[in-house]
Amino acid sequence: MNIAVFVSGNGSNLQAIIDAKKNNIITSDIKVVVSNNANAFALERAKKEGIKTVVFDGKVFHSQEEHDLSIISQLKEEGIDLVVLAGYMRILTDLFIGAYTDKIINVHPSLLPSFKGAKAIKESFEYGVKTTGVTVHFVDKELDGGPIILQKTLDVEDSSIEQLEERIHKIEHALLPQAIALIEQKRISITGRKVKII
Ligand code: GRF
Repeated sequence: MNIAVFVSGNGSNLQAIIDAKKNNIITSDIKVVVSNNANAFALERAKKEGIKTVVFDGKVFHSQEEHDLSIISQLKEEGIDLVVLAGYMRILTDLFIGAYTDKIINVHPSLLPSFKGAKAIKESFEYGVKTTGVTVHFVDKELDGGPIILQKTLDVEDSSIEQLEERIHKIEHALLPQAIALIEQKRISITGRKVKII
């Protein structure tokens, strides 16, 4: 499979995918890394590995649709089979999601459907949850709302927010490559909201 990884920031999840490829946990080619942020450290990680990077700056397009059409044409050129959102902080249009139905996955730092949105770790910590975790899910038109592929829990115990962040990221770095591997091996079937691992 050819995968595109979408990033906006640090790119530790991108690094986990790169490392998973090196360790033969996944077999896909990381064909391109797409970012909305030219200053994302994730882009440095990609360049270091010789992976092509493309920045799509929302400000240079007239509309969201035009922006997403431009990304779609880039992905078609690269022959992309799977889009992995790894800390991508821009909302995709229905047009984009429709073009890659069941071919976009996202990693989210909470047990969905709890704590959707960009501040999931902070919000779940402040809420005082005893158990939280990580979700890898397919992306549909609802924000953080698509069918769940994998979830893993962790007990907050007396972690500080920094410790909790670190613990959650560690889980993300294992779970996201694991989901990619399941998709590569065609071990996933989706019926409505239910994802079955064969
Ligand atoms: C991760 O916590 C991911 O779940 C969330 O954004 C963060 C990205 O981290 N969507 P990184 O850029 O992969 O280090």
